Amino acid sequence: MVNAFTYLDNQLHAERVPASMLAEQYGTPLYVYSRAALTDAYRSYADACTGRRAKVHFAVKANSNLAVLSVFVRLGAGFDIVSGGELARVLAAGGKPNDVVFSGVGKSAAEMRIALDMGGCCFNIESLAELEHLNQVASESGRIAPISLRVNPDVDVKTHQYISTGLKSTKFGVAFDDARATYRAALGMKYLRITGIDCHIGSQITEISPYLNAIDKILELVVQVESDGALIQHIDIGGGLGIRYHDETPPNIGMFVKTILDHFTQRGHSHREIWFEPGRSLVGNAGILLTRVEYLKPGPVKNFAIVDAAMNDLIRPAMYNAYHTVDAVTPRNNQPLVTYDIVGPVCESGDWLARDRPFILETGDLLAIRSVGAYGFAISSNYNSRPRAAELLVDGAQVHVARQRETITKLMDGELVLPDYI
Ligand code: LLP
Repeated sequence: MVNAFTYLDNQLHAERVPASMLAEQYGTPLYVYSRAALTDAYRSYADACTGRRAKVHFAVKANSNLAVLSVFVRLGAGFDIVSGGELARVLAAGGKPNDVVFSGVGKSAAEMRIALDMGGCCFNIESLAELEHLNQVASESGRIAPISLRVNPDVDVKTHQYISTGLKSTKFGVAFDDARATYRAALGMKYLRITGIDCHIGSQITEISPYLNAIDKILELVVQVESDGALIQHIDIGGGLGIRYHDETPPNIGMFVKTILDHFTQRGHSHREIWFEPGRSLVGNAGILLTRVEYLKPGPVKNFAIVDAAMNDLIRPAMYNAYHTVDAVTPRNNQPLVTYDIVGPVCESGDWLARDRPFILETGDLLAIRSVGAYGFAISSNYNSRPRAAELLVDGAQVHVARQRETITKLMDGELVLPDYI
């Protein structure tokens, strides 16, 4: 796997560009993505699928920047979306409706209509109520909707409880025991065409065995629903493959894909088309967040490095207790190390980015928070009325502004002060 963020002459670089130059020119906090890292991760999936009927749909929720999406469009990826907004982004980046899978538990009639009118996109359906709703909307639009059911295989995945989705207790998917009956119901609906089956068991999964358990359960169901008259052309195994943030040892992408595809072969299903919906493993390690130290604040119990990025820019530490490696952009080695908590300016104790990290720091130093390409900017907010960071995509020595820094004026767009007459 390409590591696009490496040191040259004691200077962190993004591909061939010194990170300090990017921070000078574009300001901080600043998201920086590497095209080489995005491409390398996608190719690892695609190459491992060679010779098989398989398709990789990038889960747009992980990083929906148009420049990032257009890299994947050019590489031939499909897209997994969960909203009309994500659909619009995929189209704006040049993606085709035929390459889109529409997931999510709560699609609205308006979202269904837009996707139906475009044609081609497959709906992953998560409940009987949604199935009936889509049939109704499709009949009104005079269209036939291609569908697969997202089945909840009830397998346990050792990951953070907020990102485990394949257990009975989560809101996701049709319960395994109800799935056959739900497919039968779909067979009776005139405006739906069953094309496949889907499952997604969680995120940041670092072992393959839960996938194999889920696949065995799904295949059991495939045999049953085909005997009922449905034709399952594709099996979508979802996303979820983990990345290395710290000391995790997830399987590499090639080995993961090969093991999954071999498993289908061993079970006698090599003829099926297999779909993947990765988010994090395609983009996670392709991004860093550059931030500058504003103040050093020694304390009786802890030392704080207060930086200009905050929980609104990167919420993963606060939300999932997530670990992100933090490196000095130009490391110093002239003094003893001091242990710091790296925190932001937001008025919440939960506003931390890293804890207990040894550094030699001075005010004005630049830090790089690693592995933020997935669920970094995508979940960022304007909390504390902070404009969102700029995003860059670096390609060799070239720098592309993928998103301009938000302005404070833009933050107030659409808001109105109370008029005098009220
Ligand atoms: N497909 C479906 C239906 C999903 O719900 C997800 C992620 C994916 C694919 C992509 O999963 P990935 O390959 O990225 O694991 N915000 C959390 C992660 C939430 C994942 C939600 N679903 C985090 O920052 O860790």
